[in-house]
Amino acid sequence: MIDRDALRRTFRSLYARAPRLFRAPGRVNLIGEHTDYNDGFVLPMAIDRETVVAAAAREDRTVRVRAIDFDEQAQFDLDRPGERRRRRWLDYVEGVANVLGTRGARLRGADLAVTSSVPVGAGLSSSAALEVAAGLALATVSGAEVSRVALALAGQEAEHTWVGANVGIMDQLVAAMGRSGHALLIDCRSLEASFVPLDTSETAVVVCDTNVKHSLASSAYNERRAECERGVELLRAELPDIKALRDVSVEEFERYENLLPEPVRRRCRHVVTEDARTLAAADALRRNDLWELGRLMDRSHKSLRDDYEVSCAELDVMVEIAGNFGGALGARMTGGGFGGSTVNLVRRAALDEFRETVGREYNRATGRAAAIIVTEPGDGASEVLG
Ligand code: GLA
Repeated sequence: MIDRDALRRTFRSLYARAPRLFRAPGRVNLIGEHTDYNDGFVLPMAIDRETVVAAAAREDRTVRVRAIDFDEQAQFDLDRPGERRRRRWLDYVEGVANVLGTRGARLRGADLAVTSSVPVGAGLSSSAALEVAAGLALATVSGAEVSRVALALAGQEAEHTWVGANVGIMDQLVAAMGRSGHALLIDCRSLEASFVPLDTSETAVVVCDTNVKHSLASSAYNERRAECERGVELLRAELPDIKALRDVSVEEFERYENLLPEPVRRRCRHVVTEDARTLAAADALRRNDLWELGRLMDRSHKSLRDDYEVSCAELDVMVEIAGNFGGALGARMTGGGFGGSTVNLVRRAALDEFRETVGREYNRATGRAAAIIVTEPGDGASEVLG
């Protein structure tokens, strides 16, 4: 957890006044990968790693930002947007400020100081945590009312227009709306979230970071998205009413998959079957049947690896090691892919052995060090009071 008092002290020494504090968490997705931008279902949880933004409004239109972890300082003017796609953390902060402004929030200038315990590039959505925390901070110190969903949508739009990543809504929505002790089943069409209790007393959610950095702005993500859209166009020949792959059942897909060229067919098969797995996983979780959830996670990984082709050798090795480990109920890559982390369900009694085995075997197979983090389902964004 971030030391709030230290952050307040740093803010005072930088800007000579007292801040308010706002936080937003990272997330891990249990299942439902690459379904969000197909209007489908996802089942993520907010984690107990967070980004905290200290903020105080200013009388002018300048936003000054200190990125404490990088020891960097930057500023921008709310009325004169800077250059986009600078490939810097500032894109997320200025991006979300700009989008909130163009959507009607009356923002004031502000001084900000940012620090985070969400590892960057690990597939745990450090960028969404930054967008949502910064957006909440800027809106609140300006006295602007912005709903949780609006905050998430502003973060997503910032990714599209300022960062250049055509992401779906999952990460920002779970950062804005997570709930301690729960996973969220999100319908990415209606943006409705149902909270599903996740009991971690006997089985832990463990994130294993491959330490292979992924880049979402990479063309592969946008390419997959385009392949899904192509699939919908072609399937419309037989299913004229569909708007997205979410509208295609597994049976319909099997009936009409011969309309699709490769690799579009396999991309669509992943999305259609992943939606079905995600709904089944939410049902399993409601029954507290973590064995079934684990089994669905294993199948999700195979589909991402073979059909959607967004895994990589290190992720596959990490999943295989967990698959051979008796105390693990399920394992899969999580997030966009091409690096980042796996998510694992591990019996608490076997946690120490799991850490030891994964650390050793992963290093032996890849020459890299794994970072293993036991996470708990945490709360979404809020002001830090007290
Ligand atoms: C990234 C994106 C999300 C989602 C996942 C894949 O995390 O930000 O919107 O598409 O990849 O499920």
